[in-house]
Amino acid sequence: MNREDSQHRIEQLKKEILQRNYEYFVLDESKVSEAVRDSLKKELIALETEYPQLVTPDSPTQRVGSVLSGRFDKVKHKSRKWSLADVFSMEELQDWEERVEKTVGKTEIISELKLDGLNITLWYEKGQLVRALTRGDGNEGEDVTHSIRTIQNVPLALFEPVDLEVAGEVLLSKKSFEKMHEEGFANARNAAAGTVRQLDPAVAAGRALSMYCYQIGETNAVLPKTQSGILDWFQKLGLPVFNKYAVHDSAEASIHYIEKWHTQREALPFEIDGVVFKVNDLEKQETLGFTAKAPRFAVAYKFPAEQTTTVVEGITIQIGRTGAATPVAELRPVLVAGSTVSRATLHNKDEIERKDIRIGDTVIIQKAGDVIPEVVEVLQNLRPSHSTPYAFPKNCPLCETTLERPKGEAVHRCPNLNCPGRQREGFIHFVSRHALDIDTLGEKVIDSLLELGFVTDVADFFTLTREQLLELPFFKDKKAQNILDAIQQRRSTSAERLIFGLGIRFVGEQVAKLLAEFLHERAQTETPTPQTILELLTVCTKEELEKIEGFGERIAGSVFEWIRNPAHQTLLQKLADVGLTLTWPEAKKVLAGIAGKTFVITGTLSRPREDIKADIEKAGGHVSGSVSKSTDYLVAGSDAGSKLEKAKEFGTQILDEEALKNLML
Ligand code: IVH
Repeated sequence: MNREDSQHRIEQLKKEILQRNYEYFVLDESKVSEAVRDSLKKELIALETEYPQLVTPDSPTQRVGSVLSGRFDKVKHKSRKWSLADVFSMEELQDWEERVEKTVGKTEIISELKLDGLNITLWYEKGQLVRALTRGDGNEGEDVTHSIRTIQNVPLALFEPVDLEVAGEVLLSKKSFEKMHEEGFANARNAAAGTVRQLDPAVAAGRALSMYCYQIGETNAVLPKTQSGILDWFQKLGLPVFNKYAVHDSAEASIHYIEKWHTQREALPFEIDGVVFKVNDLEKQETLGFTAKAPRFAVAYKFPAEQTTTVVEGITIQIGRTGAATPVAELRPVLVAGSTVSRATLHNKDEIERKDIRIGDTVIIQKAGDVIPEVVEVLQNLRPSHSTPYAFPKNCPLCETTLERPKGEAVHRCPNLNCPGRQREGFIHFVSRHALDIDTLGEKVIDSLLELGFVTDVADFFTLTREQLLELPFFKDKKAQNILDAIQQRRSTSAERLIFGLGIRFVGEQVAKLLAEFLHERAQTETPTPQTILELLTVCTKEELEKIEGFGERIAGSVFEWIRNPAHQTLLQKLADVGLTLTWPEAKKVLAGIAGKTFVITGTLSRPREDIKADIEKAGGHVSGSVSKSTDYLVAGSDAGSKLEKAKEFGTQILDEEALKNLML
């Protein structure tokens, strides 16, 4: 970007950040997450660093803290409320530790969870709760005593008559937040903030807030020597402490604490957004002191952002194996939740129109766990002038066939069965892990094979020769041999893997298994081939297919249509001709106590979950991923979290491994 463009962008960013900060700090109704504001700020800092002469005193980068809303009485804090410096990587954490050690020598570190709520300071006089303040700008807070007094776990009187200033986090549990979803808060943190700032304490009382204390302020008591000692002492006084903290010898030793809670945060009843590290020894804390903004003795490690902003550089259409034409945003690459994202699904035409996503737009994207990243919203203020709405194409970008949109469906489809896009995805699916599982055949290899015309259908994989493979870019003897070996190994596979691999619409792994079991019952042979499948399937009526347990009209119809297509019949015959042999699924030993029942498995168990799942399914049970009203049994190992809570709430029967074993007898 040249200077002029940068200046324009800086102006836009400043306006946007100020607006978002106002929503967040003053109105308590932020519609975007903190990570989004962080990411905008980061872009602004980068531009201002490049052009320092463009920095103005009113830039959001030039100010710490926030404005008060003016609805509550402002009260001066007894001691200044600091915020924490953030670190985003292990390297930065170790740098911090090095700086600490330079001043106070080797030291113990206490690791605490970074609770994602609202910072509140409590004052006790002679053991009585007299005041509760928000952080405000760090010097002055707002008096919210009336709503904090309604929080059940905040003691109105301590067990000892001490004078004490103590800070902690006020939180709304995920469960309570879910219950108030129609109030329109973006997350539990905002909902907690909104609740605390309620002028009517009755509303606050009805919303089940909790508070956990973590920081000592002014006091007349004789204090323990360490932060961990303080936390224990808080508890002795009757103050709530979130007791998942741990004391480590070094920052390095605390890395596993980060990893542990990053993976287990889902199971916690409250949101956390990172880990706080503090020097445990209070005397050393004092020696280290504070910078202008934050203590030197503590630092916050923030979990990687799950939401961030980037720019849509283009929109492409991806054709799936069933012909679905999915629009995809080609993004300026950006780091989200620990990985670089350069594409996000836009779902379908309606979704693009609803969110009015255009090429050139700055957008908020989000990624949760393993799911495909998606665009949450467009930041309209950052839209380039002259932008036009996106025009969804009329034809398939790969084969030019006119796209169809079946009535009542949101997706457009390419109806051409020979569309190269559909074929490519079909090939990738055929060799995927739960289908034929030929992992040496990656997408790049498949693309080359298609380009050279070595495969026109999936049966051609089985007649590939060494000479052909050696023509592929970067192929040497060893690589070619590995692929030939892997294919050879899969010349014998299970009927359900083959059926799943064929990519019949609505036939997922589970349905493929049911269909294989059904065909097995009708088969005359125990050594089936793809030809057996062909023969058995072609004589099935739609009604017979509909009667298979777990099938409905939709699935049965799809299977019925599929096998009527001559191209598919030829394919099965060809797969038999190239020598593919199959095995039937293991016969079910249906158990009365298990058949037809729905199970959910959670927690740490003595065997892999997949094995337990297989056992239950073999006995006729069904295993689902989440607890609902229709769950019959929850199989719970140790450290079971939210699923266990939910099961208790629904009154679902809970089994430990022993009880499950008894049920299986
Ligand atoms: S200590 C002098 N400990 O994070 C240090 N803060 O980014 C004062 N927070 O304003 C804070 N969990 O609202 C501390 N275990 C914890 C915390 C924690 C969450 C919040 C707190 C603070 C912010 C700083």
